[in-house]
Amino acid sequence: MASVARPWWQRAVLYQVYVRSFADSDGDGVGDLRGIVDRLDYLEWLGVDALWLSPVTISPDKDWGYDVADYTDVQPAFGGLPALDELVAAAGRRDIRVIVDIVPNHTSDRHPWFEESRAARDSPRRDWYVWADPKPDGSPPNNWRSAFGGGPAWTLDERTGQYYMHNFLPEQPDLNWWNDDVRAAFDHILRFWLQRGIAGFRIDVAHGIVKDGELRDNPDPAVSTYNANREDVHDVLRRWRRVVDEYQPDRVLLGETWVMELERLARFYGSGDDELHLAFNFPFTFCDLDAQKLRAIVEASEAALPERAWPVWMLSNHDIVRFPTRMAKGDERRARAALFLLTTLRGTPVLYYGDELGMPQGDVPREQHHDMAGRDGARTPLPWNGGWRDPWLPLSADVAPVAAQRDDQGSLLNFARSLIAQRRASPDLVDGAYESLPSPDGVWAFRRGDHTTVAVNLSDDAAELGDGLRLAPWQGVVQRM
Ligand code: NOJ
Repeated sequence: MASVARPWWQRAVLYQVYVRSFADSDGDGVGDLRGIVDRLDYLEWLGVDALWLSPVTISPDKDWGYDVADYTDVQPAFGGLPALDELVAAAGRRDIRVIVDIVPNHTSDRHPWFEESRAARDSPRRDWYVWADPKPDGSPPNNWRSAFGGGPAWTLDERTGQYYMHNFLPEQPDLNWWNDDVRAAFDHILRFWLQRGIAGFRIDVAHGIVKDGELRDNPDPAVSTYNANREDVHDVLRRWRRVVDEYQPDRVLLGETWVMELERLARFYGSGDDELHLAFNFPFTFCDLDAQKLRAIVEASEAALPERAWPVWMLSNHDIVRFPTRMAKGDERRARAALFLLTTLRGTPVLYYGDELGMPQGDVPREQHHDMAGRDGARTPLPWNGGWRDPWLPLSADVAPVAAQRDDQGSLLNFARSLIAQRRASPDLVDGAYESLPSPDGVWAFRRGDHTTVAVNLSDDAAELGDGLRLAPWQGVVQRM
């Protein structure tokens, strides 16, 4: 099958940039957008096609950008809107696209919308957020819990005597997606970025933005039955898809779909081309590096996704322990095997900055934590070998910097780069259907397309595959038939 018809986001290798920690152009210890411009050579050399930027919009940073106070401007510390425009243009000249993070579930409590909403019960924007009366005894309206700290997902606003709802911090009030004006406001925000040449959106909490209209108690207080995962979210995603589909060249919607059931995950693709283009597969990300378990997840995902849907795979992100520590348990051979899989499966691979170096989880002492949920170890600065004066988080000592790895042909960085090149050079790896093949214990073998077989040994023992093919522990091989 020819790959000509594939949209760019199916052919692409994506790369998540945690902006504060990628590259610092002005020496203030915080990464910024011009820092990324300065490092485009590196990203092009690595072979990535698109960058997903962690939130760059205005934020008081209670949740590091995921508490937005203005959706259509860029943090001055990152260089403001002009720096973003520069990045989009400079990256575009190298055929690298830029995707931004959008946070529709909640705003910052400092967003003018919320300030207006909380000002009075009859404020015109009151209904933009989720407000409810206390129970007769003064307690919160229902048993929903917040994801941070596990306390109530409700905070009493003394001035107006009602509770507002927040699935995350009290400083992150949830928007009311039943309100048509909220929906319309986000259409405008999407268009604002689409018109600026942004290639698409990574949608924060894409599964969670619509809440139960009746605010019913969760049957199990530990499970978000009614404060996330509602059917009605699909209406919003279809609406967004229609907006995005108006733009050429084509754009992408990549959802943070934090659901653990693959059938439910598949639903975010709608009928295959009317909701998300890509929905993150967390069961894969959280799986052990185990041939049988991983194969089961990939087979089930392949079976569950609608016909025209396209998988997306990632190993690390800014919320979870980095894969070389979590999945690969500090063993470089395992880290290589995981990257090998990431780039040989059917679906779009997403690298998290530093994955290409085998960068482990940073060991950030508690007193240096910035994040209220302690996720700092996944967010430490990329070690360039220089480039960081007084960085906001300590650099990880346990990984060779970019400069040293680039010069070393045997480095993990050069290995990662060769995997990306191997994928790009193979129409089957980019495009071909996935089919499991029989394989000995500890080995996962599959076919890609008509002419390519892939095998990876996810065990500590060498494996014989027949025809004289022997795989060392944790070794992968791509063969063209
Ligand atoms: C998911 C984001 O990835 C995470 O960093 C953030 O804290 C929550 N959503 C809330 O926005």
